[in-house]
Amino acid sequence: MNHENVHVSSHPLVKHKLTLLRRETTKPKKFRELIREMAMLLTYEATQDVNLTPVEVETPMGAAQGYDLREKIGLVPILRAGLGMVDGVWEMMPGAEVWHIGIYRDEQTLRPVEYYNKLPVEPTVSVCLILDPMLATGGSAVATVDVLKRWGVKRIKFVGMIAAPEGIEALSTAHPDVPIHVAAIDDHLNEIGFIVPGLGDAGDRQFGTG
Ligand code: PRP
Repeated sequence: MNHENVHVSSHPLVKHKLTLLRRETTKPKKFRELIREMAMLLTYEATQDVNLTPVEVETPMGAAQGYDLREKIGLVPILRAGLGMVDGVWEMMPGAEVWHIGIYRDEQTLRPVEYYNKLPVEPTVSVCLILDPMLATGGSAVATVDVLKRWGVKRIKFVGMIAAPEGIEALSTAHPDVPIHVAAIDDHLNEIGFIVPGLGDAGDRQFGTG
């Protein structure tokens, strides 16, 4: 496993919120709030190395050195569960573009099935943050990186809540250049592809469809 590119947040706020997120009795409204907040915290960590352009800024007291976010950032939520990770992050980075990718996992084969992709021919962003709470087998994330690389994006990062070791292995083997930022790496995947102990189905728990 390429540990260099795997980042598990050690921030106390993330750990606390993850505990609430996992809890069986947490209702969809609270669950969505937690996903939103954790996405912001994890993205804060994941964007530590984006490039800046020095600019001068006038304060009421004179000139100061400032910085502009130089890179055009794309937020790429994997539908459905990644949707809840968009809004908070977008608020912090209003200049970002949001590109949705629709992928679901076939329940029998656990293989990703792509059903929505409206990317234009030429890439419009230089850095993409893939947003999806769960990295289970890794199939959906690997397929999304494939799509973004074919689109021509040079720098891609994955931001999620919980990963299984199997998903980390699959994504970092297929795409060793893609850093993985998560709040936790759990024990294992069960026979139907759920992360254990995990938090259940992140899509159903956000949208009240479980
Ligand atoms: C879940 C999750 C990921 C995927 C992870 O989505 O949100 O996208 O499974 O599994 P993988 O790593 O094995 O590919 P799901 O297929 O349940 O779709 P949904 O978000 O629409 O509910």
